[in-house]
Amino acid sequence: MRLHYEGRRDGQQIIDDISAASLRVAGGAGAPNKLILGENRAVLKALLDRYAGKVGLVYIDPPFATNAHFRVGGDRANSVSSSRRDPIAYSDRLIGPAYLEFLRERLVLLRELLADNGSIYLHIDYKIGHYVKVLMDEVFGAENFRNDITRIKCNPKNFARKGYGNIKDMILFYGKSDAATWREARRPLSAEQAVRLFKKTDAEGRRYTTVPLHAPGETTRGETSKPWRGMPPPKGRHWRSAPDVLDQLDRQGLIEWSATGVPRKKIYLDEGNGQKVQDIWEFKDPQHPNYPTEKNLDMLKLIVGASSNEGDLVLDCFCGSATTLIAAEELGRNWIGIDESEHAIAVAQRRLGSSAGERGAIAEYETLVQRGGNDELHATTQPIFHPVNANPHRKPEQLRLAA
Ligand SMILES: C[S@@+](CC[C@H](N)C(=O)[O-])C[C@H]1O[C@@H](n2cnc3c(N)ncnc32)[C@H](O)[C@@H]1O
Repeated sequence: MRLHYEGRRDGQQIIDDISAASLRVAGGAGAPNKLILGENRAVLKALLDRYAGKVGLVYIDPPFATNAHFRVGGDRANSVSSSRRDPIAYSDRLIGPAYLEFLRERLVLLRELLADNGSIYLHIDYKIGHYVKVLMDEVFGAENFRNDITRIKCNPKNFARKGYGNIKDMILFYGKSDAATWREARRPLSAEQAVRLFKKTDAEGRRYTTVPLHAPGETTRGETSKPWRGMPPPKGRHWRSAPDVLDQLDRQGLIEWSATGVPRKKIYLDEGNGQKVQDIWEFKDPQHPNYPTEKNLDMLKLIVGASSNEGDLVLDCFCGSATTLIAAEELGRNWIGIDESEHAIAVAQRRLGSSAGERGAIAEYETLVQRGGNDELHATTQPIFHPVNANPHRKPEQLRLAA
């Protein structure tokens, strides 16, 4: 299944036709992490040489085809603004087919960069998101689709509008293949959930609940289809464990027998590790953002923690104020961030350089700038590229881009 629209190009043609950006090092030469000021299509093409098949995780939060400008406060460079007099941080002016092809070109390149065990998360809104889902299925394969995560982004609104209030957006999650890294994310139960879900208390005062000893599906062969203590598994089900394991559980006091002789397994609250994270997340946007449309850092930490391992390379080619990069840094991953807005890069540098308390150590990174790219950039007058905290003794890194 694929979307047909005007201006759509063949995937290989996209890769072949794009000219790679030429990048110059503006600071922190040799550090493995990269913060790149440039137009991401040309920069991604440039990254292919060194990083094809090497990226462990991509998170992107592209423009959402809103046809709007996003501004920063002129005299308060660290806050967002809606005054028309204030400078534009970035513009989101592509809509319809032009927007879809813009995004598809980047997705095609990102697929090339992803490792076989890599994953991609794409943050999008409810207006354009359903078209983007079809693009994602096409580029990454419907069989690799893992979740459409509903993200609750704000408190309920009472705007006058002939429709329900919109408090959510969506995150589309795909593995590059079945081998995509997955580190099960779990959340501790709240006190209220603990009491509601673990209603019973044993003689020692420990909270527990019980679950059936059998599971759906009949097996015709194997130990779990056999009777246990003279009881066959109920029709259409099989025992969760072989009879000798069930005997052992019973000896350990981990099976509760009802008055009518029905056995159930005891699950203790203090032995559990919380609840599997589900596909509705509440991570509201920051109340005092550093940058327009800045995302919630805890949400990025959940994504990075669940879909990458320490030392993996995390890429965000619409990195804005560097939320993804900070999450990667805090969790011990390497990272590459790209943005074409000088405002974004300035805020990213400030956040990366000032949150040592948050991360424990100041990030070391190389800053790169697309040569000759300034004409295409959403230019600002702000000076950027403060000295970065690169370690002068670090050995030059193998994968360094050309200076
Ligand atoms: C929604 S914002 C990302 C916000 C980010 N997630 C954060 O937490 O700060 C989208 C960003 O994409 C950047 N962008 C848009 N088109 C781009 C392009 N072609 N190349 C590079 N960056 C681009 C914009 O400058 C903007 O900073």
